[in-house]
Amino acid sequence: MAVVPGDGIGPEVMRSALKVLNAVDFSPEYVALDVGYERWRREGVAVTQDDIETLKASDVVLKGPVTTPPRRTETFESVTLHIRRALDVYANVRPFKSLPVSPFANIEMIIVRENTEGVYMGKESYNGGVAVTERVITERGSRRIVDYAFKLARRNKRSKVTCIHKANIMKATCGLFRDVFYQVAKGYGDIAHAEMLVDACAHEMIKNPRSLDVLVTTNMFGDILSDEAAALIGSLGLMGSFNIGDRYALFEPVHGTAPDIAGKGKANPIGMIMAASYMLDNIGREYDGASVRTAIEEVLREGVVLTADLGGGSTTEEITQAIISKLVSSR
Ligand code: NAD
Ligand code: IPM
Ligand code: MN
Repeated sequence: MAVVPGDGIGPEVMRSALKVLNAVDFSPEYVALDVGYERWRREGVAVTQDDIETLKASDVVLKGPVTTPPRRTETFESVTLHIRRALDVYANVRPFKSLPVSPFANIEMIIVRENTEGVYMGKESYNGGVAVTERVITERGSRRIVDYAFKLARRNKRSKVTCIHKANIMKATCGLFRDVFYQVAKGYGDIAHAEMLVDACAHEMIKNPRSLDVLVTTNMFGDILSDEAAALIGSLGLMGSFNIGDRYALFEPVHGTAPDIAGKGKANPIGMIMAASYMLDNIGREYDGASVRTAIEEVLREGVVLTADLGGGSTTEEITQAIISKLVSSR
């Protein structure tokens, strides 16, 4: 296992995830990689080709968030994007299922986000007061993500896949994505399919979130909708995700480095622990993955040990220990 603690709250929540993995007797050989913005500031390099080779040589990657500053003058390329592209983990899957602390019960939505193209390709230019970001959508990229979404729906006994796009305006890019969606859908007669414009989807998500099932979409729409979905579940700090390609798999929380709370010991580690539980599922330890999620649910249902993002006053360490106690008593 390769472990990338990342920046900001990354190392804090990663420590929690490793303790939880230890509590289910998962203690593989692992290598920790110091990559990210802090390293870039110290050494002028954020991630090396050697680091990428180490990630590729690992069976799985568990990754915390990495800072990417927004300043135009800083020529720092996002390490998260670099790694996603280098491993070609094209499917970014983000399950949003209601938890006992959620403001809305019975939400069971999965966002399947294309993870390698769209506006994330770094094809940008600036000239004489005009800035351009290219949005690249390919037939191959669209086909593999849409196909992944239908397969995931089938595997998880879901009934519908909805294509989220803005093809009314971006006819070339979203139009291609939408056409491919309809072609691929023909091969999955057992699963219903539908389409929705992304703005209407943002509205539906607040108005009627239980109506949404599996959503498949392009890179940036998936990014934005997933933070919105996280709020419906109760906090960004609760959500985990997995990034899957044909050869590699990487597990990380949906949230970022939370600079406003970093170093204070009060980050919610559950998103990172959820990601670790998806990793357990992925390597054939579904029983352990499910036990971790059950332990999380029990702690949240009791509502005694909660971090600040959930309205409580407990520390990262306290909620981690509470989850571990549940796990230990169930084994
Ligand atoms: P963020 O997700 O870090 O934080 C948004 C809000 O959610 C903040 O108020 C934060 O305190 C809260 N929050 C996030 N995670 C939390 C947790 N585990 N527990 C409690 N509260 C939590 O988003 P941002 O502030 O927009 O981004 C900060 C940095 O993180 C940026 O540099 C961004 O590029 C980076 N980022 C990285 C990743 C990644 O590497 N996968 C993902 C998202 C953002
Ligand atoms: C996420 C993040 C990343 C993204 C950034 C940090 C590159 O917001 O994983 O959701 O936009 O994909
Ligand atoms: Mn995001």
